[in-house]
Amino acid sequence: SDALFILESGEVYRNPTEVKMSQIVLPCHANHCGELSVGQLLKWMDSTACLSAERHAGCSCITASVDDIHFEHTIGVGQVVSIIAKVNRAFTSSMEVGILVTCEDLYIGKEWKVCHAFASFVARRTETGKVQLKQVIPHTQLEQVEYSLAAERRRMRLIHVETITDLLSNCAAQLAGECQEHKDAIPAEKTRVESVELVLPPHANHQVSTFGGQIMAWMENVATIAARWVGLSLKSWFLCAPDVPELKQRIGAEDNGRKNKLGVDLREE
Ligand SMILES: CC(C)(COP(=O)(O)OP(=O)(O)OC[C@H]1O[C@@H](n2cnc3c(N)ncnc32)[C@H](O)[C@@H]1OP(=O)(O)O)[C@@H](O)C(=O)NCCC(=O)NCCS
Repeated sequence: SDALFILESGEVYRNPTEVKMSQIVLPCHANHCGELSVGQLLKWMDSTACLSAERHAGCSCITASVDDIHFEHTIGVGQVVSIIAKVNRAFTSSMEVGILVTCEDLYIGKEWKVCHAFASFVARRTETGKVQLKQVIPHTQLEQVEYSLAAERRRMRLIHVETITDLLSNCAAQLAGECQEHKDAIPAEKTRVESVELVLPPHANHQVSTFGGQIMAWMENVATIAARWVGLSLKSWFLCAPDVPELKQRIGAEDNGRKNKLGVDLREE
């Protein structure tokens, strides 16, 4: 991490939005394979990133989306997970938060990267309307690079949402034809897993709404069960904000009349 930097002026610089959390993985955080469950990791990533966003915004923020995440390593019980989050760039009311996850084995003295993710947080509207965030001023070379890339990623994020919407609406017939070519195909309906969750106090964040990480954890759980039907494991992940309305109702998320798209990318082990 570039936590502390000596600037040209000789001043010691620490990024004011940086938040770091470390956690030893206990059996209660693990899945049936004895590895840290992706859902638990997503919860920790979301809370760390939310603190970073709120530190910059100075007000309450919500998770709008998390870009694709590719997990490079699994994390075992007894290992230490460290999550560093910082705001790369603020736009109008939204911010991009960069999240780096590493894992350390204290006994063999090794540390490795698990994933690097980008989440978008939005400052909650106030009675006077949309919040205008203060801009981020990059101080180090790395911050300057992330600042520039954040604008490009934002552009691609918004295009991605449109592309997926177009794909779903235009390609249904074409994809149905493609599926008939596989002889031993499992009917998609057979892999369908549905979960209904009752939102309880442990699922709420400090703003007393279901926090984004909890929803991602529920989604990961359902996706993992669905994937077992076809012998796959969850290797990467995407969630783009706005709306499956019935999901929003079930999870008690705020409904602003838009649509949520949720997805997981399953890869062969
Ligand atoms: C995210 C949310 C606030 C956007 O609302 P909206 O009506 O689209 O509001 P706006 O059009 O004014 O957009 C607000 C900002 O969010 C950004 N935004 C909207 N959807 C986004 C997405 N999928 N990814 C990244 N940024 C997004 C917009 O670009 C805009 O940024 P800007 O102000 O910097 O220009 C809204 O969809 C929401 O409340 N979703 C639920 C979030 C939530 O509850 N999360 C926790 C899980 S329960």
